Amino acid sequence: MRTLLLASVLFAGLMFSSAVPLSLPIPYHAFCRVMWLFAVPCDEVSMKVAQQIQAFYPGYKLVSASAMIIRANHTSLDGLQAENITFTFNPTVETGGCRAGGQSVSLGFTSLLDNGLNYCNLYNLLSVSGLTSSLGFMEITNEWACLGYGQNTCKASPALIFK
Ligand SMILES: *[C@@H]1O[C@H](CO)[C@@H](O)[C@H](O)[C@H]1NC(C)=O
Ligand SMILES: *[C@@H]1O[C@H](CO)[C@@H](O)[C@H](O)[C@H]1NC(C)=O
Repeated sequence: MRTLLLASVLFAGLMFSSAVPLSLPIPYHAFCRVMWLFAVPCDEVSMKVAQQIQAFYPGYKLVSASAMIIRANHTSLDGLQAENITFTFNPTVETGGCRAGGQSVSLGFTSLLDNGLNYCNLYNLLSVSGLTSSLGFMEITNEWACLGYGQNTCKASPALIFK
């Protein structure tokens, strides 16, 4: 029950908080915003995310990495689609864990229905690096914050990583 309450508070934050240092994408770009909770320290989470981005080169390119923010680019193999990816990391004082925010935004104006591309850009980094099975992992988002979230196929088929 407490977890559920915490989740809804965090979700409200995901949707409306201006404290989250992520720029809101303008409506014409497909985008996905997700929040994750971990029972492991942010150092560990951010290190794994940064390492996974580098391991996925050249599909992903690390733009910058600090303790608080990681920026990356993603491009499809055919070079036709490009997305900006941003991760933020905030330690959760009460649990010694980490609250991470992720955002992927399509740079093109082509489609508002991205078939979960932006969600998969984020999710693939977490699943392949093993973070989705780390202690206390919890994912918070929905169709409003993350286009195509309900129809994403990357959970069933990791092979779509470089689509
Ligand atoms: C990332 O994409 C931006 C355009 O959004 C570009 O200006 C920048 O050079 C790219 N950085 C890398 C490391 O590919
Ligand atoms: C993509 O990221 C670059 C910096 O890496 C920024 O200048 C640009 O405005 C971003 N584009 C969108 C659509 O968010």
